[in-house]
Amino acid sequence: MRKKFFNGALFAAGIFFTVACNNVSKPKQTSGAADSLQNTIPDSVSFDAKVDNKQVKLYTLKNKNDVEVAITNYGGRLVSLLVPDRKGKLVDVILGYENLKNYRELKENYFGALIGRYGNRIANGKFTLDGTPYQVDVNDGPNSLHGGSNGFFKQVWDVTKVTGQTLELSYLSKDGEEGYPGNLKIIVTYTLKDDNSLEIAYHATTDKATVINLTNHAYFNLNGASSPDGITNHLLQINADAYTPVDSLLIPTGKIETVKGGAFDFTTAKAIGKDIGAKDQQLAYGKGYDHNFVLNKHRNDKVVVTLSSPVTGIQMQVFTTEPGIQFYSGNFLKGDDKNGKGGVAYKYRSALCLETQHFPDSPNQPGFPSTVLTPGKAYNTVTTYSFTTK
Ligand code: BGC
Repeated sequence: MRKKFFNGALFAAGIFFTVACNNVSKPKQTSGAADSLQNTIPDSVSFDAKVDNKQVKLYTLKNKNDVEVAITNYGGRLVSLLVPDRKGKLVDVILGYENLKNYRELKENYFGALIGRYGNRIANGKFTLDGTPYQVDVNDGPNSLHGGSNGFFKQVWDVTKVTGQTLELSYLSKDGEEGYPGNLKIIVTYTLKDDNSLEIAYHATTDKATVINLTNHAYFNLNGASSPDGITNHLLQINADAYTPVDSLLIPTGKIETVKGGAFDFTTAKAIGKDIGAKDQQLAYGKGYDHNFVLNKHRNDKVVVTLSSPVTGIQMQVFTTEPGIQFYSGNFLKGDDKNGKGGVAYKYRSALCLETQHFPDSPNQPGFPSTVLTPGKAYNTVTTYSFTTK
């Protein structure tokens, strides 16, 4: 039921798509990549293509410490993020692919992508706004996931500003797209700062009442994206005393439950693998962690998550204005192909996502913070991923 599928219709007539497949040159080497792991930015040529008659490219931002982030405007995706480990060697901590073709053709749809109009699930793809019922695209069993089959992750974003450390992407999601009401104008700004943090600022306005929940779906592995070590050895702390339990299809029950003392208790740092195999109905539903945590503090100057790898010493802290975060432990990664960066297969639990968000299915949950955006109001959220070592 929860099978993700690749929509072959993308290649239907009218879509003009050229990738210089035969022309993919070797990725440029980045300083410090002395071992066999892939710690490089892919060659931008392998992202140069027209999709939906729009130009797709790969953009690289770099700060004064040689930290680099590569972003493509296809899905507004983070492709690579190179940060120093405890020895100063640059490590790519984001899963993804080395060319656009793989992003378009392979079944893992969400690598590094901007997600919208509604990140996470809406039960049966249905909600009612101001008395009008809406049916949005259903793509996850009976439910809608991450904005529908052709959500923002498959759209070509306009590049409206680019400087050495900033990339501004814009997208107009038209009234009725994937079933959502209102023309929604979105601007997402990626900023790589000199303190080795990556800020993602989201802004949107609408001309009709709608629901909105934007996030980024980066898959992190602080051991390195092409490392054979999965993420169960990572230490995780989430500043959340509660989470939103789900039903068997990962729709919240509406309850807000304490994490105290159980498998979901990350209030003090613990290894992700410690309780992931515990006998717990919620872990069984998620096949591991795939749950929304209710953050104690959600201002962009407060740390909500601290994640670190004992192998590389890389530590990532997450700051957000959002009230929730989906901790997904990569339970549906299959690793049955070798199309990852450096020719690796992205295996089960080889990465995790920390998707800052409003709670899943909020349009149908009156007890959750509202995700409604109305004309004349602006949607503004900020999430920052900050890197140090220990
Ligand atoms: C969801 C998972 C889903 C994954 C897909 C996550 O945000 O919570 O259930 O399988 O996205 O990549």
